[in-house]
Amino acid sequence: MLLVIFLFVVKAKGKASKRKSNQAPFPPGPTPWPIIGNPPEIWRKRPAFRWIHGLMKEHHTDILCARLANSHVVAVTSPVIAPEFLKKNDSVFASRPVTMATEYSSRRFLTIAVVPWGDQWKKMRKVVTCDIVSASKLRSLLENRIEEADNLVRFIYNQCKSNGNDNSTASAVVNLRLGMRQYSGNGHEKTVCKAMKIVSEYQDPLIDERVQEWREGKRTEPEDLLDAFILAKDSNGKPSLSIEEIRAQCAELMLATVDNPSNAVEWAMAEMINQLETLLKAVEEIDSLVGKERLVLEADIP
Ligand code: HEM
Repeated sequence: MLLVIFLFVVKAKGKASKRKSNQAPFPPGPTPWPIIGNPPEIWRKRPAFRWIHGLMKEHHTDILCARLANSHVVAVTSPVIAPEFLKKNDSVFASRPVTMATEYSSRRFLTIAVVPWGDQWKKMRKVVTCDIVSASKLRSLLENRIEEADNLVRFIYNQCKSNGNDNSTASAVVNLRLGMRQYSGNGHEKTVCKAMKIVSEYQDPLIDERVQEWREGKRTEPEDLLDAFILAKDSNGKPSLSIEEIRAQCAELMLATVDNPSNAVEWAMAEMINQLETLLKAVEEIDSLVGKERLVLEADIP
């Protein structure tokens, strides 16, 4: 069974960290070192997720609290407790730490993923949920995705055929991934600025041009997600987003959709290569459901 750990970070600032006598106790957890909390154990007993699972077993608990300096990190493995964090008290736990990298990558907190909980987050989340990743939008853009997926498969196929001799294109793939990773680094203001500048110089002119085309009436039918961003309307029929918000949200979605899924697929493939039995089972399943005559389609996935 896949055991999912939800991690929640509660910033305990100043007096807030001192519990009053009538407050509920913290969940069980490892004894923290003064000031720094539990980072020494996290470092010594890495990977952290195994250490956390081990502790939870040891404490016979579905909820555990560790400390990173003045932040409480709460791990939850129970689907009964998880809604307390994800639904009931979502507003308390939804915010992420504010850092230089989150500020720059969200163009001063205009987007969803890294902005603190509040009006801007609610607005962007509503637009993205209703106008961008809605079921109807996904359905209407199926053709675009198939075309892009074909392009990618063709690109990878050509890479394999050239047998790694063509270094110029091979390094283009690696560079993109490395570029994307710069965003998750801590510190290195110069690196983050440079990476954001590359993204802006690439995408901003395309976005501006598209907005102009709509303004001048050169476009009448939405064709892709950028059009959906531009055409999104609020309850008064006015454009939901400013151009700066569109630019910021496009960049953030590019990060979410390029880096995360490619990491997840790479990890799954690496695990399967290490466990040939699982790989063979996956190949068998695809062969029996899809066959060898065509590629997997979205419709094959239940
Ligand atoms: C395997 C692929 C993916 C993984 C592992 C992943 C992981 C995550 C995680 C862990 C968060 C929560 C971040 C936090 O702690 O606040 C998150 C948020 C988010 N992700 Fe993904 N993601 C994936 C794919 C995607 C894709 C394909 C999209 C867009 C189509 C996307 C859009 C978002 C958005 C908009 C948020 C912010 C949600 C909010 O704050 O309400 N993600 N993702």
